[in-house]
Amino acid sequence: MPKLTINDMEVEVEAGTSILQAAEQLGVEIPRFCYHDKLSVPANCRMCLVEVEGGPPKPVASCAMACGEGMVVKTDSPKVKKARQGVMEMMLINHPLDCPICDQGGECDLQDQAVGYGYDRSRYHENKRAVPDKELGPLISTTMTRCINCTRCVRFAEEIAGTPVIGQLNRGEEAEIGTFVDELVKTELSGNLIDVCPVGALTSKPYAFKARSWELRKVETIDVHDAVGSNIRVDARGREVMRVVPRLHEDVNEEWISDRTRFAYDGLGKARLDRPYIRNEDTGKLEEASWGEALSYIGMKMRGLKGEEIAGLVGDMADAESIVALKDLMGVVGSPNIDCRTDGAKFDPSNRAGYLFNSTIAGLDEADAILIVGANPRYEATMVNARIRKAVFERRVPVGVVGEAADLSYKYDHVGETLGDLETFSKARSGFAKIFKAAKKPVMIIGSGVFEREDGEAVHKMLYDMAESMKIVTKDWNGFNILHRAASRVAALDVGFIPQAGGKGFDDIIAGTKDGSIKALYLLGADEFDARAQIGWKTFVVYQGHHGDAGAARADVILPGCAYTEKDGAYLNMEGRVQYGRKAVSAPGEAKEDWKILRALSEQLGQILPYDTQMQLWQRIADEFAHLADEDQIKSEAWGEFGGKGKVDAKAALTNPVANFYMTNAICRASETMNKCSLAFHLGREDLLEAAE
Ligand code: SF4
Ligand code: SF4
Ligand code: FES
Repeated sequence: MPKLTINDMEVEVEAGTSILQAAEQLGVEIPRFCYHDKLSVPANCRMCLVEVEGGPPKPVASCAMACGEGMVVKTDSPKVKKARQGVMEMMLINHPLDCPICDQGGECDLQDQAVGYGYDRSRYHENKRAVPDKELGPLISTTMTRCINCTRCVRFAEEIAGTPVIGQLNRGEEAEIGTFVDELVKTELSGNLIDVCPVGALTSKPYAFKARSWELRKVETIDVHDAVGSNIRVDARGREVMRVVPRLHEDVNEEWISDRTRFAYDGLGKARLDRPYIRNEDTGKLEEASWGEALSYIGMKMRGLKGEEIAGLVGDMADAESIVALKDLMGVVGSPNIDCRTDGAKFDPSNRAGYLFNSTIAGLDEADAILIVGANPRYEATMVNARIRKAVFERRVPVGVVGEAADLSYKYDHVGETLGDLETFSKARSGFAKIFKAAKKPVMIIGSGVFEREDGEAVHKMLYDMAESMKIVTKDWNGFNILHRAASRVAALDVGFIPQAGGKGFDDIIAGTKDGSIKALYLLGADEFDARAQIGWKTFVVYQGHHGDAGAARADVILPGCAYTEKDGAYLNMEGRVQYGRKAVSAPGEAKEDWKILRALSEQLGQILPYDTQMQLWQRIADEFAHLADEDQIKSEAWGEFGGKGKVDAKAALTNPVANFYMTNAICRASETMNKCSLAFHLGREDLLEAAE
């Protein structure tokens, strides 16, 4: 633990800490361009120069110099200032005078540091060098004359994303950043290049020239495009979401987000349901209605029905408040037919440890062997995949996969394709099986798609037995992890939005709409199954949600709700971590917050739900589900047996459930940007992009 002095302040740091990091611990900021605390250290910009007394005669790069015992460092001496001014002058020789038209303006490291170290005139009169822009796809706009060759983007693509398609080409005056062969940056993490670039060389294409950072209202909230619960900031102007950027949460998404989280926001303004509709029984067409008309029509249709003739389904992006309110409403009408697993998954939800990501996402940093079963984490939970890649890249953690092979951005052993292969693996004693069984903190990541089959509950039991036999769970380690895809799923399971005593599950509810036993079906944002094709036409269907997507297409009554950016709401991620989303903009037209709609509807159904304000609803939730009141906490769960009886089809291949990463929910499907990504990255038809502009 070396002890050193920085600007006359003493500090003791871990061995290997750089001077720049030690200064940060003291609250002393050292300017930097190439250094990024999540990337390797190239020390190529020289902006972080400091003076070390008794050290080398020249200033040293503080990001690359480790602290030594007794070092005396000056970060603000005249010599340091002069050196940094020299670096800045060099950097600006070729930098264009673009600030007024540059999207980075107002949040640019170069701009900020030029204030401290730049001269107000240049000693160079030669033409500035020109660097051709690069075509990186529909998400990233390039202005390469602004590039300062810090190589952060190159290191991000190689180290974090695992797609080393960009690099620094040529040397000296000719050095430039580009793709080695002309190709798009095909990674679902590409938007993070915009954040790591300290200047305006890489900027957001959808956000280009739309707003200045100081005009935007910034609201810290939670993403709902997958079950990771990435921490995000929504920047809005008026009623419009202008961009989405990541917030730091070391235990969840670190400081990265996926492209879907970042760029699908334009879908929030398209195909919105902004007023209630009722389907005309004669013409079959949806017609505009007032809230009063729509609610009393539903009341009229549902009042005479028995509880068992009514069912409720919860979609993938619902908040905990509206899930509890719908459960209460179903209780009021006496319906036991409720389910949140609209993907058709069947597993035993009686033990929380059987459906959580028990090791936690940050726990992957401790894992010493990882087995992925029936999942493509890259597309199902991008930030979890980034953690796995980190484990592989930084600690050489071995990974095995049972199921469909895919490019996961790291090397793995493809153990097999079926649950039979998994069983064989659990008994094997060589190769990856030997490594996995010898691991002290093994992790098994099971895709939720594994349960989307008839024998799902038996599969759940089989996986429990394997976790036991392979000792994945020990006294102080639980490596049994379910990789959910829906942001609402864990909250819905925790509050018991599953078939009640004698009630029907998703498959039986759908079958009931065809055989006439389910006469009314309430869909709360349930868009992830083909409602038009699957729901019987005699059933009365109410759809409450924000987009005119699959659920609304089949509905007899549409009640417009709020998207995640338009309401306060609690979400539990796949770990069971409680996080609160905040309202950033108001909802369009007559759309209302979801729990309020359900509360209003309860009046029509004869028994008013006992909460008039969101605070009262929160109190009701906290009374029954106390752990939902603990923000950013994970309620750990005791390990115990789960799963159902039955025979497992060991020969059926495990397939990955996400076919197209860019089209996984109603917001994405409405988003122009996601449609372009789908064309360019999923279908490989970048030739059609121009037509889509
Ligand atoms: Fe100005 Fe920064 Fe843009 Fe350069 S990158 S033009 S300094 S805002
Ligand atoms: Fe650095 Fe940006 Fe240039 Fe990449 S494009 S080297 S991140 S300045
Ligand atoms: Fe240290 Fe760039 S930040 S050399």
